[in-house]
Amino acid sequence: MPLVSMRQLLDEAAKGGYGVGAFNVNDMEQIQAIMAAAKETNSPVVIQASRGARAFAQDRFLFHLILAASELYPEIPIAMHQDHGNSFETCKSAIELGYTSVMMDGSLKEDGKTPSSFEENVAVTKKVVDFAHARGVTVEGEIGVLGGIEDGHGAGGSGLEHVTDPDQAVEFAELTGVDALAIAIGTSHGAYKFSKKPDGSVLKMDVLIAIHKRLPNTHLVMHGSSSVPKDLQDIVNQYGGKLKETWGVPVEEIQLGIRNGVRKINVDTDNRLAMTGAIRKVLWTQPEKFDPRDYMKPAREAMQKVVALRMTQFGQAGHAGDYAPISIAEIAKGYADGTLTTQPLVAAK
Ligand code: 13P
Repeated sequence: MPLVSMRQLLDEAAKGGYGVGAFNVNDMEQIQAIMAAAKETNSPVVIQASRGARAFAQDRFLFHLILAASELYPEIPIAMHQDHGNSFETCKSAIELGYTSVMMDGSLKEDGKTPSSFEENVAVTKKVVDFAHARGVTVEGEIGVLGGIEDGHGAGGSGLEHVTDPDQAVEFAELTGVDALAIAIGTSHGAYKFSKKPDGSVLKMDVLIAIHKRLPNTHLVMHGSSSVPKDLQDIVNQYGGKLKETWGVPVEEIQLGIRNGVRKINVDTDNRLAMTGAIRKVLWTQPEKFDPRDYMKPAREAMQKVVALRMTQFGQAGHAGDYAPISIAEIAKGYADGTLTTQPLVAAK
């Protein structure tokens, strides 16, 4: 199957009432793990690359690896997504390379660290929307600012510093015409999200529900959504790791989000932990090993297990064959003639 537009993938998820995991990749084994999990569970999927990933792997290597995935698994709809684009230029380069979806994270300035103004965010996001939609490419925007830092991108600090204001979310969606909206509800990137199992004082599901009430048809995106399971932390620490005690986003909270408009769920840290734990275990228990395949194979299998579990928990499992891909050129026509709406449905307060 050719790569599909993320808009189509999320529209279908909305129809089916499920969420779609968006998994970060840097290398071949991670892409293979995701595709093996997608095949095992018959799931559509978003494969996403941050700027850091594009630099690490080199653009063309990563692009062609994801293309290889679409050739090898023609039955699986895959959207190729730029995670946290920091500028119009970053998004433009991803689109020109062949990505079918981009995130313009205008919640931060181009340095990827300093929170921007609402007006700056709207201006740069709208510019990306105009460029992307003319080419049939999906755009995710962000309103409010996530906590933590990932791949050098992020404001740092706690996720509670810039929680999304529902009124601003409505205005932002109206002014930009984004296809998907990332919101800040107290989560942050990385392993250290919460110092205990999160409750409503730190994980603002009430804000998410309030935004969904005002924007009932807008595809919401949850970033920083790794659950950081204790068993994965334990494997890392059992074999020489030094992770401090930490909590992520419980899966049942993500499922509550999915019942309230969340269609895309970003997961990176859980896969990093799974791979690192598996690699540590081999190197710790079998120190005579030196063939990278001896630890990369279990690492790939460990990641496949986590991804397959999330696909089942998010509800995308079983939905790969529900629809035929619409070409990116047709999607571009849809934006141009208005059959693909970009103006959100707004409910009264
Ligand atoms: P985690 O660090 O929770 O996996 O979040 C990843 C993410 O949101 C990527 O954009």
